[in-house]
Amino acid sequence: MIYAVYGLSMGKESPELKLSIATHPIGDGQTGEVVSEKGRGQAKLRALVRFPLAKRLRRLVNRFLYTDLFRLLVYSAFDETSYLRRYKDVRAAVADGVYSSGYEHFIKHGRKEDRDGSRCCAPIAASHAYKDYKKLVQSLLRRFSDNKELAMAKSVGSQTMGCFYSTGNKQVSLLCNLGLQDDWVVYDLSCGCGRTAQALARSGWSGKYTGVDIIEELIRYAQKTTTGYLFMVHHSYTVVASDNSLDLVFAWSLFTHLLLEEISLYIDDAFRALRPGGQLIFSFLELANPDHRKILDARRAMASEGSHPVHLDTFLHRQDISVLAANAGFHKLRFIDGADQHATAFGAFGQSVVVLEKP
Ligand SMILES: C[S@@+](CC[C@H](N)C(=O)[O-])C[C@H]1O[C@@H](n2cnc3c(N)ncnc32)[C@H](O)[C@@H]1O
Repeated sequence: MIYAVYGLSMGKESPELKLSIATHPIGDGQTGEVVSEKGRGQAKLRALVRFPLAKRLRRLVNRFLYTDLFRLLVYSAFDETSYLRRYKDVRAAVADGVYSSGYEHFIKHGRKEDRDGSRCCAPIAASHAYKDYKKLVQSLLRRFSDNKELAMAKSVGSQTMGCFYSTGNKQVSLLCNLGLQDDWVVYDLSCGCGRTAQALARSGWSGKYTGVDIIEELIRYAQKTTTGYLFMVHHSYTVVASDNSLDLVFAWSLFTHLLLEEISLYIDDAFRALRPGGQLIFSFLELANPDHRKILDARRAMASEGSHPVHLDTFLHRQDISVLAANAGFHKLRFIDGADQHATAFGAFGQSVVVLEKP
């Protein structure tokens, strides 16, 4: 604003000039304008007053770009997958570790270069899971319009707020039992509305966290409720991280809702993104567990009545997990029973869990 007025007052009205003035504040002699002694004095005075003001303004704007408020306003509209698909150079730079994500590139350069950060058609946008979860989340938000917190908890399978907090605490306790360290870089594949992220923050854990999900409403809520963590919408079966860069990838109640081919794509890409010695930990349902079989019973009843379940429920066999893990390159496998009372500080975890380690 100040720059534009300045440009006009100097008699320069072309947009190009205004733009260049905006990026390079005018110093003495830069305008090439012939003015009187008095005029020159006034121009100097104006430059003196405006230059520091403009500098301060720019600094303020730059700071704002990295605040949670900015992320909330802009980042929810930014789509990581589409950005990386569109720009080969950014993809390469992220793979080389120059930027931690497409978003970092977008903030530092992409915006100024007029690059497009909006969503284009990405594989998951057409998937069963996207359609089912989008419908579920939107209907819960409508049904519980006076209690968004509860709508969000129900979206990730917790029917009460008490259950939301206790499940989050169990998830974190299990991670701690499996060796979670304070300086780790962790990736929450399907972070939902931030159930695990909130519990990690409550526990005082101080590593670097990235949470990714396919539903925009959930990510927006997670951003609002947990500050200091990075959340993003991502719509392909990949892990948004450079090769060998993560200590831990975990996925709670995700592979319980995906098809085998989708699960195997994620296992392969998690292997790529993990550092040697890094772990992929995920929960799953198995028919060998009588509690898990109840889910099948409920689905059988619905099928016989001709009604449709809200989303897919998938049962995995340990042998199948071993095959997928070995194909990806993982060498160590450890299973934790859903009924194992020592799995967490709060008792059994419920779902079965597998820990895969990259050699
Ligand atoms: C049962 S919720 C669990 C959320 C979270 N992991 C937790 O435990 O709080 C399942 C989550 O998976 C997400 N999801 C579904 N399909 C996905 C996919 N293909 N990739 C990533 N996330 C997906 C849903 O949007 C939802 O947030």
